[in-house]
Amino acid sequence: MEIGTLFGIGVGPGDPDLITLKAMNTLKGVDVVFAAASTTNSHSLAEKIVTPHLKEGVLIKRLNFPMTRDRSILDAAWRENAEIVIKTLKKGQDAALITLGDPLTYSTFGYVMAKIRETTEEIPIKIIPGITSYQAGSASAGVILAEGEESFTVISGALGSENLKKVIDSTDTVVMLKVYRNYKEIFNTLHELDLTDRSVLISKCGLEGEMVCQDIKERPDSLPPYLSHLIIKKKNSG
Ligand SMILES: C[S@@+](CC[C@H](N)C(=O)[O-])C[C@H]1O[C@@H](n2cnc3c(N)ncnc32)[C@H](O)[C@@H]1O
Repeated sequence: MEIGTLFGIGVGPGDPDLITLKAMNTLKGVDVVFAAASTTNSHSLAEKIVTPHLKEGVLIKRLNFPMTRDRSILDAAWRENAEIVIKTLKKGQDAALITLGDPLTYSTFGYVMAKIRETTEEIPIKIIPGITSYQAGSASAGVILAEGEESFTVISGALGSENLKKVIDSTDTVVMLKVYRNYKEIFNTLHELDLTDRSVLISKCGLEGEMVCQDIKERPDSLPPYLSHLIIKKKNSG
């Protein structure tokens, strides 16, 4: 039996119109859709985006990824999920593993792909890029990420402002994802760096309740929702 293909599909940041034609057309052909189950509900959002594009009778399977930083627990979960995916593909079924935004940008897809590759080289894997959260965010906020000779750097705020301090002197614009948990500490660092009025907070981009805060000084205390990122533009453009 011919082995199925795994498609790592980015479904865009939330607005159902921001899925690509290629993602839509590929989704029409798969037999199984894998989506990560999570407490943040971003993955059920990915399911909602893809559902209108699936052929009838497609199975949607949730993969469990524990919310922990314990590397050995995570490693075991990635391996287990990779095995579930491999089993489906070995039945000759094509499958999609869907991701909010882009599958190679801070996504569980990367970990599962690595585990599949550790186990076997024979599975065909194709990746369909998605519009990232920060591309949609910069469009909503009207903020230029880079122009001319400028650079921009994408970092995670999951550990607080540690990464921000590392890159701030060597780049023109910083995009910071995963800011919600350590927002207060990140805010205080931006305040110390005199960058609060150059920092735009974008929450729930493309979704009901989207919020764009052009000057985060206006909301120093309120914690943003999980789907939030910051764009920190050090200089005025132009
Ligand atoms: C695990 S990362 C996923 C990134 C995603 N793969 C991408 O390409 O943008 C989750 C983070 O992405 C950002 N994010 C995702 N969707 C968003 C949205 N609709 N609005 C604002 N931020 C979003 C938030 O910073 C969130 O904490």
